[in-house]
Amino acid sequence: MSRSTAAMRMAARAMIETDRLLGVTDVPGAVGASVSENAVAAPVPEATSTAPVTDTEGSNPPRPLPAPAIDPVSLDEDVVAALERLESLHAERCGHCTNSTTHRSVVFGDGDPHASVMFVGEAPGAEEDRTGRPFVGPAGELLDRMIESVGLSREGVYIGNIIKVRPQENRTPSPDECEVCGPWLLAQIAVIRPRVVVALGATPTKYLLQTTTGITRLRGCSSRIRIGDFSVPVVPTFHPAYVLRQYTPEVRRAVWEDLKQAVAISGED
Ligand code: URA
Repeated sequence: MSRSTAAMRMAARAMIETDRLLGVTDVPGAVGASVSENAVAAPVPEATSTAPVTDTEGSNPPRPLPAPAIDPVSLDEDVVAALERLESLHAERCGHCTNSTTHRSVVFGDGDPHASVMFVGEAPGAEEDRTGRPFVGPAGELLDRMIESVGLSREGVYIGNIIKVRPQENRTPSPDECEVCGPWLLAQIAVIRPRVVVALGATPTKYLLQTTTGITRLRGCSSRIRIGDFSVPVVPTFHPAYVLRQYTPEVRRAVWEDLKQAVAISGED
């Protein structure tokens, strides 16, 4: 293969990955496009399981969030013990992760169980599968910098994913996989009880807000979700892997503003 063909293939792969992280069906011309403020300014009402966010594209009305996999009240009152118990129940019972045969680690989550700010990504990648910790590859390094840029520290936040084992060949988790593994994340959120959840990219945003609206429309707008008796605002922003590919001042500023908003909501500023 010539060098130019290899370079074109690499560029094509990067573009597909960028589309995947953005949910390109919702973002006309997203490949290579920088994000303008107008493109992201549409506000959405607060979402709850009883009155979910209006789907601003009007096609599929969002559904209520499913129930958490385990009622958090049935777990230990101590958050650390409850998270440990939840982790072992997930390892025994998750209908998605127990059926995966290709992963090395179950990447349950990491950070301060008492955190005010919780970040939710999509699924572990190769480095996360190797180490058993979320966001430790290149996207994780950028996430650490993003976290520090708004005055937080990695140790002071909690980081989890919708899907807790690495999808084969890093493919996007399907909505069905999110439906099966996602309720464990909901239980995790309800145990930690953060003051705000930051959804990183299209997949967690679509699951947590039960919407088909794209991330560029939703980012920066806080929408409240309800998990049992717990309700929490969700602030969607771009996935750090997308930021790595679109390393423009506009995209970086957009993410920084989203994170500042999340920090303000959490009262940590
Ligand atoms: N991307 C994610 O969405 N989650 C991780 O844990 C790592 C990369």
